[in-house]
Amino acid sequence: MFNFLKKRSTISDDGSIHLNYDNIPKHIAIIMDGNGRWAKQRNLPRTIGHKAGVETIRRIIKECDKLGVKYITLYAFSTENWKRPKDEVSALMDLLVEYLKKEFDELNKSNVVINHIGDISKLPERCSKELISAYERTKDNTGIVMNLALNYGGRSEIIDGVKKIAQDIKDGKLKIEDIDEEVISSHMYTKGMPDPDLIIRPSGEQRLSNFLLWQCAYSEFWYSNINWPDFSESDLHKAIYDYQNRDRRFGGIK
Ligand code: IPE
Ligand code: IPE
Ligand code: MG
Repeated sequence: MFNFLKKRSTISDDGSIHLNYDNIPKHIAIIMDGNGRWAKQRNLPRTIGHKAGVETIRRIIKECDKLGVKYITLYAFSTENWKRPKDEVSALMDLLVEYLKKEFDELNKSNVVINHIGDISKLPERCSKELISAYERTKDNTGIVMNLALNYGGRSEIIDGVKKIAQDIKDGKLKIEDIDEEVISSHMYTKGMPDPDLIIRPSGEQRLSNFLLWQCAYSEFWYSNINWPDFSESDLHKAIYDYQNRDRRFGGIK
């Protein structure tokens, strides 16, 4: 009886959150939004906001690892973000390289797999090289998998997948009647990974902005008005608390 309650977390009278460690989301995906507004509120250039956002990544990865999350996907640059001024795009690319260089040892020591999703062939070579090298050097690690979504778009991912499937059919490796959800999933950039349980978007926007369209069919969504640079470990706990107090029915009946 009340078996489902076991999955819940609780909150004490003093407001402190007690998460249920048996029900930590396996895969958390975050739309790291609000860097620009964070900077604007402080009369600082947008790039300073992006820099501050990198600091949040460091803290949140550590906390997710500590909590036992297995996969974390971070939306860092969308296929639409190329529309931004050249200077901002270039600053973001520089920050990425700097982040990978600066954080590599610490991440590797913590057993993190530094993976990427998205079409990184369109990124400047200095970025794609660093990403490939970081992945090669960490792919055998056994800790949390960090997916950096770069030049990522859910629609592009589906288009790429459809093309690969069509090619497999043309080559006689696959039959049309054998296409099912598993086949599609295995042609996404997230092949072999569980779908995200929880999608977090700070900054007050409540939209997907082309993130993980195929994978989020049954994800739980959590929004917050806090801008990404200010997103704290305690905000992460609040998101997981809410997640643990929801019923995931997947179309069935509890
Ligand atoms: C998210 O912050 C970072 C990227 C999209 C690269 P924004 O730069 O979108 O910040 P806002 O939305 O302008 O505040
Ligand atoms: C989504 O944020 C992409 C990333 C956080 C990388 P945007 O700021 O680009 O999204 P919109 O334009 O507000 O939808
Ligand atoms: Mg934004």
